[in-house]
Amino acid sequence: MATKAETGEWSPSSWRAKPAAQQPVYRSEAEVAGVIEQISKLPPLVTSWEIDALRAQLAEAARGERFLLQGGDCAESFDECTSNTITNQLKILLQMSLVLVHDGDKPVIRVGRVAGQFAKPRSEAFETRSGITLPSYRGDLINRTEFTAEAREPDPQLMLRGYERAALKLNFIRALVGRGFADPHHLEYWDLAFVTDSPMAEEYRRTARSIGESLRFMEGLLGVNPSELRWVDFFTSHEGIHLPYEQAQTRRVPRREGWYNLSTHFPWIGMRTADPGGAHVEYFRGIRNPIAVKVGPAVTPAALIELIRILHPDDEPGRLTLIHRFGSERIGDCLPPLIEAVQSTGKTVLWCCDPMHANTRVTADGYKTRNFEDVLGELDQAFDIHAEYGVCLGGVHIELTGDDVTECIGGARGLDEAGLKRAYRSSLDPRLNYEQSIEMAMFIARELRAFGRP
Ligand code: PEP
Ligand code: CO
Repeated sequence: MATKAETGEWSPSSWRAKPAAQQPVYRSEAEVAGVIEQISKLPPLVTSWEIDALRAQLAEAARGERFLLQGGDCAESFDECTSNTITNQLKILLQMSLVLVHDGDKPVIRVGRVAGQFAKPRSEAFETRSGITLPSYRGDLINRTEFTAEAREPDPQLMLRGYERAALKLNFIRALVGRGFADPHHLEYWDLAFVTDSPMAEEYRRTARSIGESLRFMEGLLGVNPSELRWVDFFTSHEGIHLPYEQAQTRRVPRREGWYNLSTHFPWIGMRTADPGGAHVEYFRGIRNPIAVKVGPAVTPAALIELIRILHPDDEPGRLTLIHRFGSERIGDCLPPLIEAVQSTGKTVLWCCDPMHANTRVTADGYKTRNFEDVLGELDQAFDIHAEYGVCLGGVHIELTGDDVTECIGGARGLDEAGLKRAYRSSLDPRLNYEQSIEMAMFIARELRAFGRP
């Protein structure tokens, strides 16, 4: 039975009555309210039509008819809002999806961790250096990285700057995707300049050539004008951690029921904020968007059943995605009881694997890294375990970049710990680089061929 607090009383700000983890303490709540008011009057970043279309596609993925490819940076920064970062990110996701569609024989839902992934959970609220204690850096949406009292003070105006950065990025992505760039007749647009000598390049090109041939064949056969085909949907997602920002763009829309979060298509609840009694779950239960929850080793079957009861009461197709992240050593123990818990509810969720976040470690030289073998190992086990329970793993959630970085070890080029320093650029979590991402797509395509049918 839903309690009173979980029925009728929801509003975009009802989360304020619940304990809210991971929130900064602002100096002036009046200023926060003023910023929320301003953002709520600005045009939305996404529309309810797009959100509903994504929910329908996620419903297909939950039935094993599509595959969700969700990826991007651990955190976006305001400074890296450049043409190159955006196009490289888009290119790698397009290339991966092309491999999945062609070699894995599944339509793909492309979702970026983009245009709003500006806030991060922190294990400590404060940081101490040389005897000075200041608030931790929580992402560009909240405060600044420099270790000074002024920079670390949470600044509500940064929410406005974040909203604007998200709009700038989305504007460029929409322009690229809507015309030309994402057209698979011109796969050369997706090439990344530095990859000609990559061990992955030749296999990828073979796939690309074969797609070009199939397209020409289809066009010849069906007489379709390629410019009339709309090829690529691209959706946005971010961790809905900073609740004032999420609240600001939560609106009603004409001729549709309920409230939509119009700052992103697909927000998710992070592992550290998934308490069923907490403010994040309260906020998420009231929005119409498809939503995801990160599920880590600490989640019990009882807690998961409670989350499903609150967040997925009507078993609406496509509504709830569970992104599990246990690590390659623990997935075998952690995942089966949670699959059984979901099955006991009789409801359908989309299962997605994040093989990155629980496979992180620090090298002797102090680099935060992930071993590509652990990443693929967790994914490999995820496909097997879901298949044993008669479900399809329906998606993957990864941190990647189209840039030529050296942050995760392993992969076809055999990057080792000593090689990390060549181009380690992440200030947060280590990302798969271009080659590792393509290699992962080829791996997933093979798994989809083996396990892709319900
Ligand atoms: C993340 O996705 O960057 C993240 C912090 O993940 P999690 O909540 O799973 O730790
Ligand atoms: Co991360």
